[in-house]
Amino acid sequence: MEIDIRCECFEVDWKIVSETLKRVGMAFYEPETHRKAFEASHTTVFVYHAAQLIGFGRAISDGVYQGAVYDVAVAPEFQRKGIGTIIMKKILERLPECNIILYATPGKEAFYEALNFRKMKTGMACFRNSEKMKEKGFTE
Ligand SMILES: CC(C)(COP(=O)(O)OP(=O)(O)OC[C@H]1O[C@@H](n2cnc3c(N)ncnc32)[C@H](O)[C@@H]1OP(=O)(O)O)[C@@H](O)C(=O)NCCC(=O)NCCS
Repeated sequence: MEIDIRCECFEVDWKIVSETLKRVGMAFYEPETHRKAFEASHTTVFVYHAAQLIGFGRAISDGVYQGAVYDVAVAPEFQRKGIGTIIMKKILERLPECNIILYATPGKEAFYEALNFRKMKTGMACFRNSEKMKEKGFTE
């Protein structure tokens, strides 16, 4: 499958970003909110197929030794074709010296394990919507 990988936020259709996150069951907001979050990120990756945005991801980082990955998603009809791996590898490539943390959607840990991520024993989060995150299986 021919794909085009872009790392800039120019001309991204933020409505598709919001809709894709909604379709895959991840937290989604107004398109403009995603634009702000991606534009404020250290690294962004967008994957296109036939001019259609089919996957994306981003990392916030100091660019020196710490980074955190968010909003990695692939449109359902394009999943399990290696696109998620391409997105993650591109993000990691752009943060070569950094420790990278993330929290996987419950059930998606194997995807990150295949990329050498390991579960943290002391990872902690203070979520704004803490009850919902507990219900969804993110926290104890
Ligand atoms: C998780 C996600 C980004 C993976 O993207 P993808 O393009 O489907 O993943 P890949 O094709 O690169 O998968 C690579 C490997 O990861 C593992 N993997 C991927 N999805 C998996 C799943 N749902 N369950 C178990 N293992 C999975 C497999 O080992 C897979 O290799 P294989 O297909 O040869 O078995 C994508 O499924 C997605 O958008 N899911 C919904 C949103 C989400 O949960 N995002 C992650 C937020 S933390």
